[in-house]
Amino acid sequence: IEAALGAGPLAGRRIVVTSGPTHEPIDPVRYIANRSSGAQGTALARALMALGAQVVFVTGPASVPPPEGVDLVRVETAREMLAAVEAALPADAAVCAAAVADWHVANAADRKMKKDGSGRAPVLDFAENPDILARIARRAEDRPRLVVGFAAETHDVVAHAEAKRARKGCDWIVANDVSPATGIMGGAENEVTLITASGAETWPRLSKDEVAQRLARRIAEALA
Ligand code: CTP
Ligand code: CA
Repeated sequence: IEAALGAGPLAGRRIVVTSGPTHEPIDPVRYIANRSSGAQGTALARALMALGAQVVFVTGPASVPPPEGVDLVRVETAREMLAAVEAALPADAAVCAAAVADWHVANAADRKMKKDGSGRAPVLDFAENPDILARIARRAEDRPRLVVGFAAETHDVVAHAEAKRARKGCDWIVANDVSPATGIMGGAENEVTLITASGAETWPRLSKDEVAQRLARRIAEALA
């Protein structure tokens, strides 16, 4: 309602959100992917809009539909996602919720790869993808005032996430434990620890929508 009236604590704020997996081509008909559904990024975009923000939603091929009302930018690869995020700047905040592929296939073929009858399998060479979060966090001219990343870990969650925050130069990391015993991966709930310059704050287990709403409120406070 607030957003519809052009009000809300994030009215007039422009926020870039990355979401979903990326697909990295092997040849024109095949790709490498991951299991991200895009659910948490989508919920976050909705929660930010509900507080009045203008959201640029840069998404890979997700399995959940993008929210209505965003400025939608669909991409396939990590390299396309970086270009789209850079093109969306300046922005007040950037939240990188995408599960970006860490590598792309450096020797991707421009024609469908065919079996050659020898019984030998092709060999794929991998090259590291750009780190979108780190690149945005280290922009000289137009760095968003608040840059937020996510970190899904299976062990030593807080230590790994704090190290990630320092390494990438972002302001906050939203960390979660995705080890199989938690049932978080692919589920409707999430249990996160918010890591900021002032320390680590563990939130109770909440629905992904509630995590998104709580994070959106924190972002609004930080940008106020
Ligand atoms: N990220 C990104 N670009 C990449 C890789 C990651 O923007 N090429 C962002 C993700 O969107 C997320 C954060 O960085 O917000 C952490 O992603 P994660 O995969 O946990 O970190 P990595 O640096 O890739 O480390 P790891 O080896 O643990 O995968
Ligand atoms: Ca990674």
